[in-house]
Amino acid sequence: MRPLVATVDLAALRHNYLHARQCAPGRRAFAVVKADAYGHGARRVVQALLEIADGFAVACIEEAEVVREVAPAARLLLLEGCFEPAELPRAAELGLDIAVQGEAQAEALLAAELARPLNVWLKLDSGMHRLGFDADGLRACHARLKGAAQVAELNLISHFACADERGHALTEAQLERYAEVMQLGFDNCTLANSAAVLTLPQAHMEWIRPGIMLYGATPFAELSAAALGLRPVMSLTGALIAIRQVEAGESVGYGAGWVAQRPSRIGTVSCGYADGYPRSAPAGREVVIHGRRVPLAGRVSMDMLAVDLTDLPQAQLGDAVELWGAQLPIDELAQACGTIGYELLTKVTARVPRRYID
Ligand SMILES: Cc1ncc(COP(=O)(O)O)c(C=O)c1O
Repeated sequence: MRPLVATVDLAALRHNYLHARQCAPGRRAFAVVKADAYGHGARRVVQALLEIADGFAVACIEEAEVVREVAPAARLLLLEGCFEPAELPRAAELGLDIAVQGEAQAEALLAAELARPLNVWLKLDSGMHRLGFDADGLRACHARLKGAAQVAELNLISHFACADERGHALTEAQLERYAEVMQLGFDNCTLANSAAVLTLPQAHMEWIRPGIMLYGATPFAELSAAALGLRPVMSLTGALIAIRQVEAGESVGYGAGWVAQRPSRIGTVSCGYADGYPRSAPAGREVVIHGRRVPLAGRVSMDMLAVDLTDLPQAQLGDAVELWGAQLPIDELAQACGTIGYELLTKVTARVPRRYID
């Protein structure tokens, strides 16, 4: 068996969920489990949170079907609503909460014959300009949906564009636009993603929507997950599958771009970009072996990468290699690659087995 595994620490996941709720006392929290729970495996993540979570949120009805199998009674929110009118009856059968993010969705809802009314989350475009009604459109839609046969609760939702950059002027503007519309009267309101859960109490409303923080990564460039009290959930661990000595002046890997400056001991690790390790990882990025950091040597290939073991003589064939996780924050690698933890987590590919520990 290929020695590469993504170990998912479910106790850490639960800790992070409870931490989110502690940040917003008395509020309820949708655990955001879209994109297969940010790459961690939605089924197992939902099972692990079932006893403690107030609800779950996903991006589409296909994801909702999976969550419903393991969470028959939980509140389950479709963050982008139904993509076509034909999904509405299924949403009602599944007992979903749905976002309504534009005119077409509102029309379809009002025209639908549903087995039961749905909890609706009217989406305000408070400044992100991706989905949602402007303030006037939202007022008009509120008037039409209030009391409609298809609607149970009428709720308000919006999303921050820059909450991860503390003090950003747009966040203040979004809060103001949201507060104005809130006065129409809603059963429930929600606004806060992880960044706002952690740093913007005025955005907490009745429901928070933490995503990335559940998985122990930070939404902020300058605040680490550990400093925020989060525990890493996924550790990606491979092994040394070959070790060789190369002379000074010899190169390693594709493109021969890494050249040994001294006689070097090179290890080959069972993880590559086809597993989700970023090919863009720059020279000098590190992995952890025996609790020690060791630099990459040369380009990441599809199934393997090389590391310089010269300063770690105790490293042996078969030794475990942590690519990210409990000993090496994913956010460090993400930042070095010009991306975010979200992207690395959701790009761990299907061929990497997930192993769950409690
Ligand atoms: C509408 C909505 N709410 C909440 C979240 C969770 O955001 P985060 O992972 O930053 O907490 C997302 C994720 O992108 C989202 O799209």
